[in-house]
Amino acid sequence: MCGITGIVTRNSDEIGELLVRCSSKLTYRGYDSVGVAAVRNGIVDLRKDVGTVDEVNKLLGLSQMKGDRGIAQLRWATYGAPTKVNAQPHFGCEEVFYGAHNGNIHNYVEYKKELLETGHIVRSENDGELCVHAVDKYYEETGDMFEAVRKSTDDLHGAFAYAVGRADEPEIYAVKMGSSLVAGVANEATIVSSDLPSVLPLTNNVIYLADGEMLVLTHDDVKVFRIEDGKQLDRKPELSNVDARAAEKGGYPHFMLKEINEQPKVVQDVMGVLEGQHSDEWIKMFADASRHFLVACGSSYNASIVGTYYFNRLAGIPIIHGLGGQFDLMYGQTMNEDSLSILVSQSGETKDIMNVLKRVKEKNLGKTLGILNVIGSTLMFESDSYIPMACGYEVSVPATKTYYSQSIIFAYLAAKLGEYNGHIDPSEARSFVGMLKNDLPRLTQETIDRTGILAKNLARTMLDVKDLYCLGYGFTDGVAREGALKIKEICYNHCEGMYSSEFKHGPLSIVTKNYPVIFATTPEDSWMVINHINEVRARYGRTIIVGEHEEKLEPYIDNKHDYLIVPKSDVLINPILDVIPLQLLSYFLSVDLGINPDLPRNLSKTLTVD
Ligand code: M6R
Repeated sequence: MCGITGIVTRNSDEIGELLVRCSSKLTYRGYDSVGVAAVRNGIVDLRKDVGTVDEVNKLLGLSQMKGDRGIAQLRWATYGAPTKVNAQPHFGCEEVFYGAHNGNIHNYVEYKKELLETGHIVRSENDGELCVHAVDKYYEETGDMFEAVRKSTDDLHGAFAYAVGRADEPEIYAVKMGSSLVAGVANEATIVSSDLPSVLPLTNNVIYLADGEMLVLTHDDVKVFRIEDGKQLDRKPELSNVDARAAEKGGYPHFMLKEINEQPKVVQDVMGVLEGQHSDEWIKMFADASRHFLVACGSSYNASIVGTYYFNRLAGIPIIHGLGGQFDLMYGQTMNEDSLSILVSQSGETKDIMNVLKRVKEKNLGKTLGILNVIGSTLMFESDSYIPMACGYEVSVPATKTYYSQSIIFAYLAAKLGEYNGHIDPSEARSFVGMLKNDLPRLTQETIDRTGILAKNLARTMLDVKDLYCLGYGFTDGVAREGALKIKEICYNHCEGMYSSEFKHGPLSIVTKNYPVIFATTPEDSWMVINHINEVRARYGRTIIVGEHEEKLEPYIDNKHDYLIVPKSDVLINPILDVIPLQLLSYFLSVDLGINPDLPRNLSKTLTVD
């Protein structure tokens, strides 16, 4: 969700340019509105409006703003519509305090009422404004900015982070209370931000914060304090080896296409991680647990479905998978101290996942294993052990390479666990891991090359389609759901992903002449899927197939591009590849429909709200 960036610099001419350059790297977190508050000679210049950084910058000249400190905010609307008045940063009662937040203030209604009753002038319907007023309120009481910021957190309930300053004081303050925050120390400038990509244009010297900590930034130093008692903590910057160019398009028209094309490299990188020194530790965590819970949301959840099939097939263990938001109510009472919760999240910040993690820890419900992409995320710090997805930055809002990496991680862990617990023969495990390592990078590249043109041509025939299904069977269950999610998310079409044998239990009634249904399949399951295809064809529906080439499937397509053929591989590798043509189809369809697939409306890449 929203992204905040605060900078203090020695050079008073550059604050607007720096804030625009750095905060634009957080566009994936929110693009409903943008604002910058810049301070020069004790006067706060606040400019904000609805739109992306580029749009608002053009409109209001954000990058020309002068001053030696300032705060920028990119908003994904939750509390209050995406309007100018609700855009952040906000002032306090007067134009003295300025600040912006990321997250949700759960006691918004009660606290706003209390502030209004005590004479505060609250202008917006946005909960971020209350953070600035809370500081304003405590400054009235203490006359001390450090104490005011520290105490302000007592009044605010929820999961959030905010940056705040006072017109006549040179520092910027920031607190972390459940939402991510990272700081950077550059030459003659310091920065605090919701996420690393906006720090990297300035510096690779970074400090990660933990919940309950606050920062004081001056142009040459970042000091970290514990909010509870105000004690200063010894926290030195660490060198991040993430390349800032990871957040550039690198010649591709969109991040999404770039990230799809990075998948062959992702295979190599994630296999390097999996074959590294922690492999035995992860397998032991699985082996020692009596119950296994796999928790994720969105694309990560779809990959977890694929994972569940791998664990059944290769390791012979049942995995209980669930959505982050439903998990506690559905399975919470069945967890115990011998459970293993595998929490899967690209961002490592998704609130629905963090809620599960928090409960598991509070109630001592066993071990936690995070599978995450963002190094330095809350999930990384809070879980007992973690597996990095090794994808580098995934900037585009639709997940592609991280879903891919997750599928590989599950396939690998299942094979190694199966070998460990004797469910499969060691030679079988070795041969499968060998394929993942040695063959999958090439097969992934071939799949992109072969299906790219077909997917592009197919997309052109689907411009009028508003409603369709994407079905999978067995291992392609999660693949089909992921394909459907991509089409919904970036093409704004209704596309339901479901299990193909379920289709006849109701949804089949939607099929009329040429109604499109996509089937993702593997040679192992196509004998069954043909039944489901026939049920659609018998109602004159249009069937589109994703999978290896099989002669027996040929009669079920009307045009060459209705068969997205992936290269021949192993039956357990095939479901990993099948998602790629669906990623490409959704990408080309989105672009043909005039949508920017990187920034689909109403969405944000990091969802730190309930
Ligand atoms: O960061 P996470 O993996 O926890 O995110 C979960 C979902 O919000 C995410 O996968 C979302 O569904 C994607 N935008 C789908 O492309």
